[in-house]
Amino acid sequence: VTTLSPGISTAADFRLGDFRTAGGALLRQAVLRYRVFGDPARGRERGWTLVFHALTGSHQVDQWWGPLLESGQPLDPSGGPVIAANLLGSCYGSTGPSQNDGPWPELTTEDLARAHIPLLEFLGIDRLALATGGSLGGMVALQWARVTPIPTDRVVVFAAPARTSAQSIAWNAAQRMAIEADPATGLAAARAIAMITYRSSLEFGQRFGRERNGQPDKFAVESYLRRQGDKLVARFDAASYLSLMRSMDLHDVGDLTEAGRETATRVGAIVGVGIDTDILYHRDEVHAWVDAYRAAGARTAYREIRTVFGHDAFLIEWDQVAEILRK
Ligand code: COA
Repeated sequence: VTTLSPGISTAADFRLGDFRTAGGALLRQAVLRYRVFGDPARGRERGWTLVFHALTGSHQVDQWWGPLLESGQPLDPSGGPVIAANLLGSCYGSTGPSQNDGPWPELTTEDLARAHIPLLEFLGIDRLALATGGSLGGMVALQWARVTPIPTDRVVVFAAPARTSAQSIAWNAAQRMAIEADPATGLAAARAIAMITYRSSLEFGQRFGRERNGQPDKFAVESYLRRQGDKLVARFDAASYLSLMRSMDLHDVGDLTEAGRETATRVGAIVGVGIDTDILYHRDEVHAWVDAYRAAGARTAYREIRTVFGHDAFLIEWDQVAEILRK
């Protein structure tokens, strides 16, 4: 384990050790790679923020939420340290299926959340000002709110339902079929399928229309999807993709009244953020858990991002995301 010097932002490995999943499987000698932005010594006075990444993100929050970490922005580390860990199953330093001998267990979003508890205890974090994330990261944040033994003042969940719908499992199933046919070209096809669900018909129409990319046989939107597929193949592991997709399929906080009650005892307030053009995790699904949690006694609020970008808006609409976090 690398010890962090005050003020230094660096990645380090935490030996999580043997990790028992909710399903009873044992993941042996697991490691979590994490990164702290800012000075850990100021966490007690200023409050820590815990960030959970989405499907193909990582603990390198600056690579995907960079604008929010800038000076004066809501996650500016000088206002309080920010910590993120690479989720179990991913391929950016934490234990994933490609580093593991023996069968790889199913990990639920609750497992992914729970794996953070020993890490935060190791770092001496006894209170969080904020826990947040979007998409898969939002699902893990929602589970964090139910299970955290570490008091958390605010949880902000971007674009995530309380349980994954049949439609969302179906999108993942099509991606799985592509990867099963061939891990490399299949991962590219999976990314292309996913990108259709991450954006919107309106954006594709405005951005690409029926244009061709120089070559008469290729529509611009097709070249775009192929480019996104190739980029992911160059940086991501197909087995990790399958593991994290499975976690998304399994995502379910259980009975909403009970989950709302559990959340009310552990966090000060929880905010659900829907995206008006999100076809993957519809804003109505976010609204539904916010309402149920409120009825169960949790302090909650619903906020909405208005955008042409669809699900990906939590990675694009910086002003709206920052405004929600600031408030
Ligand atoms: N043909 C080929 N390539 C094209 C193109 C076309 N017609 N039009 C655009 N592109 C390429 C650009 O060259 C650029 O590629 P580069 O990154 O290699 O320079 C890229 O597409 C830019 O478009 P895009 O990626 O859509 O940028 P954005 O700013 O709109 O979106 C992200 C940024 C990070 C949101 C997006 O790239 C992304 O990765 N989305 C998926 C993230 C994700 O995993 N979300 C959900 C998690 S569960």
